[in-house]
Amino acid sequence: MKIILVTIALILLAMIPLNLFSHFSSPWPSPVSTKRGKKCDIFRGKWVRYPKGPYYTNVTCRHIFQQQNCMKFGRPDTQFLKWRWKPDECELPLFDAAQFLELVKGKSVAFIGDSLARNQMESLLCLLASEGDPIAVSNIKYPLSKSCLYTDYNFTVASFWSPYLVKDIDAKPTAGTPNSLMHVFVDEAHEAWMSQIEKFSYVIVSAGIWFLRPQVYYENGNIVGCHLCHKKNVTNLTALYGYRKAFQTTFRNLLSLKNFKGVTFLRTVSPSHFENGEWNTGGNCVRTKPVSSKEMRLKGLYPEMYSTQVEELNAAAKLGRKRGLKFRLLDTTEALVVRPDGHPGYYGKTVHENVTIPDCVHWCLPGPIDTWNEFLLQMLKMEGDSSLGQ
Ligand SMILES: *[C@@H]1O[C@H](CO)[C@@H](O)[C@H](O)[C@H]1NC(C)=O
Ligand SMILES: *[C@@H]1O[C@H](CO)[C@@H](O)[C@H](O)[C@H]1NC(C)=O
Ligand SMILES: *[C@@H]1O[C@H](CO)[C@@H](O)[C@H](O)[C@H]1NC(C)=O
Ligand SMILES: *[C@@H]1O[C@H](CO)[C@@H](O)[C@H](O)[C@H]1NC(C)=O
Ligand SMILES: *[C@@H]1O[C@H](CO)[C@@H](O)[C@H](O)[C@H]1NC(C)=O
Repeated sequence: MKIILVTIALILLAMIPLNLFSHFSSPWPSPVSTKRGKKCDIFRGKWVRYPKGPYYTNVTCRHIFQQQNCMKFGRPDTQFLKWRWKPDECELPLFDAAQFLELVKGKSVAFIGDSLARNQMESLLCLLASEGDPIAVSNIKYPLSKSCLYTDYNFTVASFWSPYLVKDIDAKPTAGTPNSLMHVFVDEAHEAWMSQIEKFSYVIVSAGIWFLRPQVYYENGNIVGCHLCHKKNVTNLTALYGYRKAFQTTFRNLLSLKNFKGVTFLRTVSPSHFENGEWNTGGNCVRTKPVSSKEMRLKGLYPEMYSTQVEELNAAAKLGRKRGLKFRLLDTTEALVVRPDGHPGYYGKTVHENVTIPDCVHWCLPGPIDTWNEFLLQMLKMEGDSSLGQ
């Protein structure tokens, strides 16, 4: 009997996936089929050398935000630009700007989130630069939000700067130190996107690092607790409390919009890579090439943030089915965990600006973040033209 139990235990142990992400392998359809017609999960794979290098440069693309223009600010190494993501069971097709623009003719894409959402939007604008240059449309009054139109395709791309997804009082693009206390209304969608999202065909939702700050959470306008606020009479809650509520509120609000017919994508959490310290204790990111998945894992609160947001997406997808609304997983995390070399580090500003905190959060353009939009193209292809009302 004992031997049988031990054997069963050993078998069960052996079944525990070594790769963290296998825990979350999702019920989502896979965007790319292999030759034999088998499904291939494009989000599981590894980086392989690609000597041809990136799709664009800081000269061919005028949309690179200064702080992510690593070459301009003297990043000396370029080897980090010469890798491509190789899914385990298939090839990830190269980004095809003409194909992308054909797919989105007469449609619109919105990125909702913090500066990493904008980072992805700017990567997309750069990837499309070979085929089209959009005009800026200034119909968004919120800071750092922007909208632009590819007139030949009547295609709109917008980003709504909303670092908590929900209403906040103090978040500003230039918000002081990451230590300042934020007031976050976890049951109220942020007006910046909520007021305009109804007409969008594709909505890409993301959130992350802002939830790690000290913050007070409100529901129904009342304080329900806080994270790192050091107030004796306020209940201690974890960052995950606010994180879960924010996604819940976002997805529920999208579901509640009468005229919304869009497909919602969750772009999963983007790992930062401070090594030899945290952002405020001398940590840095100085690597020049990808690492193996054995060498680097998702750490800190990120694994739980990842599973929390995927759970909320699953819940929304279930509700969405009744409403005929689609919720999809844009599962970018695994690919970027092993790219500690992709951040600006000290090369997000001129040396004269006395940079004391390296940026190990955002991603250089060009850089590994371009892969997020290679994924996005494959997912849009899968959605096909028939999925939308317009
Ligand atoms: C592009 O990067 C180069 C260095 O590779 C730099 O000299 C140049 O000023 C940059 N140009 C722009 C427009 O960012
Ligand atoms: C452009 O696309 C929008 C939807 O994104 C649609 O409402 C509008 O009528 C289109 N305009 C033209 C000129 O086709
Ligand atoms: C906590 O105490 C402060 C100072 O006494 C008070 O202003 C605040 O309203 C209290 N907060 C709650 C949630 O009771
Ligand atoms: C919350 O946690 C902090 C530090 O862990 C502690 O000092 C404080 O008393 C706690 N507050 C409450 C209301 O439990
Ligand atoms: C650069 O930053 C250091 C550390 O914060 C400070 O002591 C120094 O005065 C700064 N130098 C300039 C030129 O701003």
